[in-house]
Amino acid sequence: MRATLLKNIDQLVNVREDDVLLRGNALAALPIISKAWLLVEDGRIIDYGPMDAMSKTLPAGCDAIDLTGRLVLPAWCDSHTHLVFAASREEEFVDKIKGLSYAQIAAKGGGILNSAAKLKDASEDELFQAAWKRLEQISKMGTGAVEIKSGYGLSTQGELKMLRVIKKLKEKSNVLVKATFLGAHTYPLQFKNDHQGYIRLIIDEMLPRIAEEKLADYVDVFCEEGFFSPIETVQICQAAKQYGLKPKLHANQLHCSGGVQAGVAVNALSVDHLESLDDHAIQALSNATTIGTMLPNAAFFLRMQYPLARKLIDTGAAVALASDYNPGSSPSGNMNLVVAMGCIKMRMLPEEAINAATINGAFAMELQNEVGSIRRGKRANLIITAPVNSIAYLPYSFGENWIDQVMLNGGFV
Ligand code: NIG
Ligand code: FE
Repeated sequence: MRATLLKNIDQLVNVREDDVLLRGNALAALPIISKAWLLVEDGRIIDYGPMDAMSKTLPAGCDAIDLTGRLVLPAWCDSHTHLVFAASREEEFVDKIKGLSYAQIAAKGGGILNSAAKLKDASEDELFQAAWKRLEQISKMGTGAVEIKSGYGLSTQGELKMLRVIKKLKEKSNVLVKATFLGAHTYPLQFKNDHQGYIRLIIDEMLPRIAEEKLADYVDVFCEEGFFSPIETVQICQAAKQYGLKPKLHANQLHCSGGVQAGVAVNALSVDHLESLDDHAIQALSNATTIGTMLPNAAFFLRMQYPLARKLIDTGAAVALASDYNPGSSPSGNMNLVVAMGCIKMRMLPEEAINAATINGAFAMELQNEVGSIRRGKRANLIITAPVNSIAYLPYSFGENWIDQVMLNGGFV
């Protein structure tokens, strides 16, 4: 592959010799090189530095691109999505405008069960085509790595179908993909009054098949009142751990339901949502290895309280930002908007929000050695902005498309 030299970059953002999971004050430190160059070869970041020290002998036939006035950032790392689904659900959106709550819509047979019914009729190929379009769309908006969950199958066949689609996306896309098994998203109707019956199906039938076909990297459970209790969550996580699947949980979305504490107890990689936090949950996350992933677009879309980002950061929790792209609670995979929401609605500093959506997001997918910062040897997954004055302009100008180009694996999208 040809080499590409990016030169006269106004600010090269999030440059790190070494990556650590950021928490507390460290989250606000966003290392930048002003007036920089960066060399990409064979899809990787080879070297970089300040322009006045560009002594490197450049590879023959290297394309040089002048980026005067522009910023270069690592591409977004979106560590929580459900972007494989059969159909949108704008009819529920209208019901919500009319005043129905998320729980009322679920009780009407809407919500997750609605998506499950639609997924049942879709072929693997149809699901793949639709998800592929969404992946292309988010890559144009700057996402270079993404976690994708199952959870609209809710039967062995349905969950395997979704996970096979995710596997195919992983194999074919330039976006780096991680797969999460979310069989425990809700109870299918026939198991409404037999929770243990469905949990046995997950543990005895789904997990062994998924492990055999190597279809998942992680396991997820919707730990929530009316869905899976903390005890049921721990039961499923412990069974999944036998197959090497670490938990990444839906926790504390609608209620203070003990999901965060259950996640920390099973050493989850992340606990996600966190709209409903009490002191116990905040305490459990402070200095924990478990990452607290906040999904402000879901809070925005459902008109809910936003996660208490400031409190989490100030008590030493490691936080990430993700989109929750799904047809019910966040029909957008736009990480630029997520970062803006983090700043506008959750009072994160632009530096904190960018770190949470890049390097900490990479940690929340265990991809910190591949993506999430500008480091020699990492994938050249980069966002190149239009001419802008500062990094604060990015979340400030919410809704404006300030991305000029996205590079994934060294090639322009
Ligand atoms: O992350 N809360 C659970 N799951 C999704 C919503 C799923 C849906 O409504 O389809 C979420 O918000
Ligand atoms: Fe989700």
